[in-house]
Amino acid sequence: MCGIVGYVGSNDIKNFLLEGLKELEYRGYDSAGMAILQDDSLKICKAVGKLENLQKKCQDIKVDGFGVGIAHTRWATHGKPTELNAHPHFGEFSYVVHNGIIENYKELKESLDAKFVSQTDTEVIVHLFEKNIEELKDPLKAFKATIDALKGAYAILLITKAAPDKIFFAKEGSPLIVGRNGDEIYFASSDAPLIGYAKEVHYLEDGEWGVVQRGEVQLFSHDQKIEPEFKPLTINKELAQKGGYRFFMEKEIYEQSDVITETMMGRITENGVDFEEIDEEYLKGITSIKICACGTSYHAGLSGAYLIEKLARVPVTCEIASEFRYKDPVLHKDTLFIVISQSGETADTLEALKMAKNAGLKTLAICNVDNSSIVRLADRTILTRAGIEKGVASTKAFTTQVMVLWMFALYLAQSAKTLDESQHKKELEAIMHTPHALKVDENMHERLKRLSKRYLHGHGFFFIGRDIFFPLALEGALKLKEISYLHAEGYPAGEMKHGPIALADPELFTIALMPKNLLYDKIKSNVEELSARDSTICAISSLEFDLADDFVRIHEWDHFMLEYYEMAVVLQLLAMEIAIRLGNDVDMPRNLAKSVTVE
Ligand code: G6P
Repeated sequence: MCGIVGYVGSNDIKNFLLEGLKELEYRGYDSAGMAILQDDSLKICKAVGKLENLQKKCQDIKVDGFGVGIAHTRWATHGKPTELNAHPHFGEFSYVVHNGIIENYKELKESLDAKFVSQTDTEVIVHLFEKNIEELKDPLKAFKATIDALKGAYAILLITKAAPDKIFFAKEGSPLIVGRNGDEIYFASSDAPLIGYAKEVHYLEDGEWGVVQRGEVQLFSHDQKIEPEFKPLTINKELAQKGGYRFFMEKEIYEQSDVITETMMGRITENGVDFEEIDEEYLKGITSIKICACGTSYHAGLSGAYLIEKLARVPVTCEIASEFRYKDPVLHKDTLFIVISQSGETADTLEALKMAKNAGLKTLAICNVDNSSIVRLADRTILTRAGIEKGVASTKAFTTQVMVLWMFALYLAQSAKTLDESQHKKELEAIMHTPHALKVDENMHERLKRLSKRYLHGHGFFFIGRDIFFPLALEGALKLKEISYLHAEGYPAGEMKHGPIALADPELFTIALMPKNLLYDKIKSNVEELSARDSTICAISSLEFDLADDFVRIHEWDHFMLEYYEMAVVLQLLAMEIAIRLGNDVDMPRNLAKSVTVE
């Protein structure tokens, strides 16, 4: 979830690059850097932390006249957020910025003689390019040979002293736009940096690559030369940052399908799950797991507990961090202590982690922000790679946390050999299918928009589910509470008859999670009991359910986790549409903070 910009021209290069990065800072900001080339003279500057650190550091860099420049703001995926790992990466005479993940970087690295200075996957691009230029003697051919060797996702900008007036570019799987204003050429990974600079833009498609110089764009699609299709840039800044969506929350719901691919990248192979971050040796002697977290992360943790027990047969408990802290917990050294946190700064979770460390437990953080306090303290970390999350109501952080836990459960199952070959294959295939289940179906979204008007009143909501759909019900209720300010509760469906069913009447709204692949008959009879007592029922399922007042049909999936993921999207959209109808600020709900660093 990094951001890149580039520029060829004579109009204050440095200013465009820094301004451009500022517009992209919302995508991630653990480090940033830029490189500017004017004939043979190169200026490069990198800094860790927020963009203002880079601005300060390159204050003395003066650039007048024509030049080419590239810049990058980073959100760490491979390698810690250090200056060495910040982009641009360089070889002897070339410099590169990159968004995405090069899956085969390890193989490529082994095939090269070059001296690597960073831990990133990106650096391999520039060394490979320089090797190719030595062999092919032509920068364009060398660049093509380089991108042909890459596997994975990328948006790349490369500058080189071998062709100092040009920027080479390529796009596969990560966004990249080329903009133009007369002779000046711009690049950015989203519209926002281009506003006020480029008059017209061409949105690059996968497989497109080429080279630009002053006033000229040479574009290819794979092996074919093509003409760019420039069209006027008409978007305003705020809309551009939100990618055209009404709220960051909406944008983040829509991007889940792409983001989850980053969570999985390099960790899933045809044979199974592998994590660079942990190994069997580290987990040796672990006989149980305790998970600790707050808010949405706690719901991910509860979901993870079901998955780990189901797949790996390891006992798991999951606790709310603020409760755990003061109950004088009994901790055993053979328990693996997992904390989950989007921000990595939540005070209660951090404190729980300290307690576990002090008690001598092995600790693992599942976190979205590298170098955060929780990541620094835990023995090991698995990053969720969701990119920066702006909406206070967490969406993509949640679905990526659950994905890490699901992969972790399968990883444990592999070493404990608790699954037979066909069960293992089924899990793996379902994991790989998740991006499809998370893809927002526009018709579904329209339906939920219409449906939302019927759920603005009443005296409360019960979100009900069984098994792993119970924590999903908790999360659905939390989403609604957070942004609509309506009272909602998540409940295990089988427990309704032990009290809450007393509340049932037409003004009590039941949102029923009814997966075809997990305990369908059980949840069905729980919902029938509520329907018999006149609660208004909104059923979410792939199987028709006659007693529902409203029915939201999800796709037919053959694994309950794919139903879980599609239902997660439905619940997020439903909460958002209800909140919008009520006139609330979806991104900044009252009384809430994105990161709670106080007790
Ligand atoms: C706050 C946020 C929630 C989040 C919780 C835990 O309450 O509003 O969305 O789930 O903190 O945050 P963490 O960063 O630790 O996941």
